[in-house]
Amino acid sequence: MFARIREDIESIMARDPAARSRLEMLLCYPGLHAMAFHRLAHALWRRGIATPARLVSHLARFLTGIEIHPGATIGRRLFIDHGMGCVIGETAEIGDDVTLYHGVTLGGISLEKGKRHPTLADRVVVGAGAQVLGPITVGAGARIGANAVALADVAPGATMVGIPAKAASMRPRAEAEGFAAYGTPRQGVADPTAKAIEALQAEIARLEARIESLESEAEREPRRARQS
Ligand SMILES: CC(C)(COP(=O)(O)OP(=O)(O)OC[C@H]1O[C@@H](n2cnc3c(N)ncnc32)[C@H](O)[C@@H]1OP(=O)(O)O)[C@@H](O)C(=O)NCCC(=O)NCCS
Repeated sequence: MFARIREDIESIMARDPAARSRLEMLLCYPGLHAMAFHRLAHALWRRGIATPARLVSHLARFLTGIEIHPGATIGRRLFIDHGMGCVIGETAEIGDDVTLYHGVTLGGISLEKGKRHPTLADRVVVGAGAQVLGPITVGAGARIGANAVALADVAPGATMVGIPAKAASMRPRAEAEGFAAYGTPRQGVADPTAKAIEALQAEIARLEARIESLESEAEREPRRARQS
């Protein structure tokens, strides 16, 4: 239990640019607290001690604002940043090194008793307010943008945005790029001003090419008129 908490703390340290000290994390990170409660709730659930398991989960929700059903299967080093309003359903499965921000739902869309919640593979990042719904699979390393609603399987490494979530047009990313806080790559990040200047430069180049072609056409025209 303590080894897992230490592992969680180290992984948060690596993933949260706002993290300053391990003590602060131990005291002030609801995601860390929610996971400690979940380990207890899940152990009770697996032994068939259902109501106490739900009670532990309910207490965790009261204290952290994060609701994790005791039946949810969660891998190692899950980091729920901020956490408030997160809901993780009973049959959700989460791999290792997954990051969720506040307001994320891993929810169901049917009354089926069986598998009805999503499966998130390793290293998935789900942005704030995103809803991942139904028994879908989100492939390893995929990113779900803030406020997106994912309703279908997501390919490994894909970035999905919008409602319903669709693959975003992305800047090229390095294959081996590690975790990027907020799902935003560190390399090649263009600020909006730089993006606007790039677009203007492309437009100027297009207009210059057009002027050149019009000028050469205009030069050819009198010659053609003299010849005829
Ligand atoms: C989806 C995300 C991971 C993409 O990050 P990125 O690789 O830097 O992507 P870009 O900024 O190059 O965006 C690519 C395209 O997707 C669009 N896009 C990015 N995030 C979006 C979102 N959440 N919803 C809708 N469109 C989005 C961009 O406008 C851009 O579109 P364009 O090509 O038409 O200009 C990121 O924007 C995101 O939402 N991360 C979650 C952040 C978060 O939850 N933070 C909370 C911290 S407390």
